[in-house]
Amino acid sequence: MSDNQLDNKSHGWSALFSEPMSELVQRYTASVDFDKRLAHADIAGSLAHADMLAAQGIISGSDLAAIQQGLERIRGEIAAGRFDWKLELEDVHLNVEARLTTLIGDAGKRLHTGRSRNDQVATDIRLWLRDEIDAIVQLLQQLQRALMAVAEPNVDTIMPGFTHLQVAQPVSFAHHLLAYVEMFARDQERLRDVRKRVNQLPLGSAALAGTTFALDRERVARTLGMEGICQNSLDAVSDRDFAIEFCAAASLIMVHVSRLSEELILWMSQNFAFIRIADRFTTGSSIMPQKKNPDVPETARGKTGRVVGHLMGLLMLMKGQPLAYNKDNQEDKEPLFDTVDTVRDTLRIFIDMIGGQRNPETGVLEGGIAVNAPAMRAAASRGYATATDLADYLVRKGLPFRDAHEAVASVVRAASERDCDLAELPLEVLQQFNSAIGDDVYSVLSLEGSLQARNTLGGTAPGQVRRQIARHRQRLGD
Ligand code: ARG
Repeated sequence: MSDNQLDNKSHGWSALFSEPMSELVQRYTASVDFDKRLAHADIAGSLAHADMLAAQGIISGSDLAAIQQGLERIRGEIAAGRFDWKLELEDVHLNVEARLTTLIGDAGKRLHTGRSRNDQVATDIRLWLRDEIDAIVQLLQQLQRALMAVAEPNVDTIMPGFTHLQVAQPVSFAHHLLAYVEMFARDQERLRDVRKRVNQLPLGSAALAGTTFALDRERVARTLGMEGICQNSLDAVSDRDFAIEFCAAASLIMVHVSRLSEELILWMSQNFAFIRIADRFTTGSSIMPQKKNPDVPETARGKTGRVVGHLMGLLMLMKGQPLAYNKDNQEDKEPLFDTVDTVRDTLRIFIDMIGGQRNPETGVLEGGIAVNAPAMRAAASRGYATATDLADYLVRKGLPFRDAHEAVASVVRAASERDCDLAELPLEVLQQFNSAIGDDVYSVLSLEGSLQARNTLGGTAPGQVRRQIARHRQRLGD
């Protein structure tokens, strides 16, 4: 059955059908409640299609003018919330087309020439997703700026770096934050790459095999700003791999946000007390009056599961489908929409929570992460964070690294028995472990010395961290 058989007077498909759908089946198979969100893209696609049909002499100039006027009017009705969406018209495509025909008559019925809802919906999703990708890239850049706003004044703020959540080596707090700036840079790269494959034109594939009309697909692609044309009609109407790829990229964004959330939650706990976040991102407890809970990062960590779930859902949606279009594909929309909404809301909230907001009067950033540098420093001074520095020192004095490692393990043990830090051990004690140790060891054992010494590209030495900040600023065009 072809979509052209739609008869909107009886709200049925054609003379072929002898009984109406039950209300339940109608609701079960309809998508208009959610796909009306594609209306803007649907109208843009229809305008481009109609323009091409007229240019090819398939419809007349006056039909084109009527279609353009009718679609503009519909656009206005939708924007004003005055459009009467009808469930019995199933989806956004049939709703818009039926309204168009009511408004302009036969010209409206000609719009669907050489087109099917199968290539129409694939085009709509791609157009819609392309713009959402651009918006998400912008948000990721703003989040990077928010992280940099905290990093910049904290290059010399020292915190313990962890492996296995055990104190490992001291690092600059800015260096730690810049790790996330890197992750969000790769997330943007991934999105830009996905965008190329999203921005391809299915229209012209019609139901599955192409069309008997002499369409100019290049013209439609140009009008819609698409980078290329889907080259196989069966593939064009049926695959949703572009949406799956997007959800994979979105899942990684959320996984990165979730890792950051986990750290914010830890850092806010009384046992760390490294940072505070503004009260508007926390909630109290209904029973414990002293509590300020990190609800926003926790919710983000939870919502990550939801987005990854959508990725799984779309993969499962696709896996058993024979070529070409199947109605299963209608189920692609809600997960995709929810993924976009969740990622966008999460990023917007994090931008504010981390970087704060600029006071319009003073121009000062207010309300971002507040850093407790003394608590970070105290934590870095516990746990023998400079033990590797001592081992490296012994290597420079001529010891093979494995022997140095062994010697320092004994030093750490001695320090822990005395309940003091390595730098607090007297020189005579240190020399018992290796006579090569001299007075110069104390600069090596200091937190600043430890950072300063990691001066390789990508390391935590303040000079390196400043270089990275400059690089990011340049990349962001700041
Ligand atoms: N609402 C449908 C979807 O989202 C549009 C395409 C329907 N095509 C069809 N032949 N039933 O996938």
